[in-house]
Amino acid sequence: MPRFSPQFARFRWTPGRTGRDTAPPPDISRAAALDYFNSQIAGAVEGWLGDRMWQVIDMIGEIFDERQIDGHIVEFGVHHGLFLFLLTVLRRNDEKCVAVDVFDQQDLNIDKSGNGSLAIFKSHLDNLIGPYKQYFQIVQRDTLSLDIGELNGLLGGRRAKCVSIDAGHTVHHVFSDLLLAQDVLQAGGIVAVDDFMSVHWPGVTEGFYRFMSTANRRLKPFLYFQNKLFLTTISEHATFVELLQAKIEGRYPDEVRYVRWKPVELAGERCIAFA
Ligand SMILES: C[S@@+](CC[C@H](N)C(=O)[O-])C[C@H]1O[C@@H](n2cnc3c(N)ncnc32)[C@H](O)[C@@H]1O
Repeated sequence: MPRFSPQFARFRWTPGRTGRDTAPPPDISRAAALDYFNSQIAGAVEGWLGDRMWQVIDMIGEIFDERQIDGHIVEFGVHHGLFLFLLTVLRRNDEKCVAVDVFDQQDLNIDKSGNGSLAIFKSHLDNLIGPYKQYFQIVQRDTLSLDIGELNGLLGGRRAKCVSIDAGHTVHHVFSDLLLAQDVLQAGGIVAVDDFMSVHWPGVTEGFYRFMSTANRRLKPFLYFQNKLFLTTISEHATFVELLQAKIEGRYPDEVRYVRWKPVELAGERCIAFA
């Protein structure tokens, strides 16, 4: 990767200006935003994220662009913002990044998954995100207390093209968060479920399979990569897998040859797994 991009630096926040009193900055290219994430954010923000997750988000961004998938970006379980800041590279035009976390109400973090902090998240928005912070909406809430009407209201009636599920890791949290995600997801958008198949967080896997067998009406998994399971909508699933497979073969032919990327069946569906 080239180092820090001056194109993004132009829009970094400077002291004395708030994000809201400036005109909306123009979108920068995904490549420039990824350079900025890798050089300025990844090492500065505490969190849990695979070192190659940015490559997958880049390929998903290409698919979104090719298929003109739009909508907001939502994360349930933000901690200090690391994955949400990576997902920000997918944001375009007036799309929002909605950050939902119990943050300073840690008594509601009943399984002690992570430890959100509103002060740290806000300081990262100020110091690392600058004028783009005007696109962030902070929601200090227990996701179990959200219903679909309220979530639709937070999104202003617009759908989400990306929902990251990484809040409470119990069966109940994951089941409930997947219910919310499937109702707000844009056709062809993605849901990312963190800690799937993690031995320390078995509730995530159990919650996912319980959802798939009793409540799923829209989603199919298409990729398992560095601890995260990615899903998209049923009607767009086959196309998504084909486009992603072609991109993986183009970018990582040696890893395909040595079967690090492997076609698998997961929950009965065609999926790609990376190990
Ligand atoms: C594993 S951390 C999230 C990591 C984050 N996605 C990242 O990129 O680093 C889990 C987060 O979920 C929050 N959380 C736990 N239970 C929650 C709940 N019921 N509703 C909302 N947030 C919750 C915690 O405060 C914590 O910040």
